[in-house]
Amino acid sequence: MTIPTLGTSHLILRPWTLEDADSLFLILQEPDILKYYPPTAFTLEKTQRYIEHQLKHWQERGYGHWAVVTQAGGHVVGWNGLEYLPELDEVEVAYLLSQRVRGHGFATQAACAAVRFGFEKAGLKKIIGLVHPENIPSIHVLEKCGLVFIDRLTLWGLKIRRYQIESRRQDK
Ligand SMILES: CC(C)(COP(=O)(O)OP(=O)(O)OC[C@H]1O[C@@H](n2cnc3c(N)ncnc32)[C@H](O)[C@@H]1OP(=O)(O)O)[C@@H](O)C(=O)NCCC(=O)NCCS
Repeated sequence: MTIPTLGTSHLILRPWTLEDADSLFLILQEPDILKYYPPTAFTLEKTQRYIEHQLKHWQERGYGHWAVVTQAGGHVVGWNGLEYLPELDEVEVAYLLSQRVRGHGFATQAACAAVRFGFEKAGLKKIIGLVHPENIPSIHVLEKCGLVFIDRLTLWGLKIRRYQIESRRQDK
């Protein structure tokens, strides 16, 4: 499939290319950016594998993560999109932005666009969000996109909160 490019008021969500690995790798070195994820560190090689995994995921499932690029600067500033989780047999909306561009509602724009895409183009019936209980900005993003709290679970060694939206309940 041809991976689509989406626009929001301030962002472009476009397919990853392997040339983006250096930019994404630098973002993933920012302090605390992975604070609420299972313990991990991204080398350049691991960042390249993430991009390859996403490109394959799009081909296999018809959805995946995009590179988030600002309309103003045209720079890669993070990731956003949908990922199938075999552990849960569910599809998660995910997002990560460089500290340079936080606090402008960009994550909300991107996540809501991904949820819309999932229902309107990818034919999904349900999308979940998994979030560490202390990750308040992320909880706000999920709620603003219409996801509601469902339950708590332990996954990848972390205690997390699960949010959910079903296609008929999407209102943005
Ligand atoms: C989660 C993340 C993408 C949010 O980015 P952001 O730029 O703050 O997102 P937005 O500007 O769209 O705002 C998100 C909401 O959180 C709120 N918020 C931001 N920082 C906050 C803070 N420190 N405390 C409380 N609320 C906060 C904002 O006010 C906004 O809510 P509102 O619109 O109701 O006012 C960003 O923090 C990030 O990339 N974190 C690292 C990766 C990560 O944790 N991803 C999510 C994994 S579940």
